[in-house]
Amino acid sequence: MAVRNIVQLGDPLLREIAEPVPLEDIGSAETQSLVRDLRDTLHEFQRIHLTGRGIAAPQIGVCRQVVCIDYPEASLVLINPVITERSDEMFGVWDSCFSYWGMVFLVPRHRLITVEYLDTDGVRQSLVAEGALSELLQHEIEHLHGQAAIDLLIPAGTIMTQQQFVQLQEKGLCL
Ligand code: NI
Repeated sequence: MAVRNIVQLGDPLLREIAEPVPLEDIGSAETQSLVRDLRDTLHEFQRIHLTGRGIAAPQIGVCRQVVCIDYPEASLVLINPVITERSDEMFGVWDSCFSYWGMVFLVPRHRLITVEYLDTDGVRQSLVAEGALSELLQHEIEHLHGQAAIDLLIPAGTIMTQQQFVQLQEKGLCL
């Protein structure tokens, strides 16, 4: 079991653009270990907070396009996911994120999306997601592009968690 630290909003790692996993690397020990660490870290978060549905590799500091979803209605690992279709119909979601836990904010999401991705066997998959899974995947895939759901409300780079703020101050970095 490898529970990793969750990268906090304000850390530049969360703003990097994640690289796709090359097809030949999907079965590698490195990718398998990344998937295991994501799942372990997600489960640990769920154990502590009694909530949480998904995590993206940049949130444990790995700049790779891998997302792990695990909650009662869905258990999925998505490698190199791309949203290929979005419904015009939107809905509002009270969202939150492990990387700035403690904040809850209302964001607009597409009701229905189509996502293409590779599974852990490197097989191309296509998924039509609606409602809760749709908004969750939109959130997690944003993490792969250096985005955060809260950017939909607040200009990027103008908000961080208290924990990160204190760490930066302790390092003597002026804000
Ligand atoms: Ni998040």
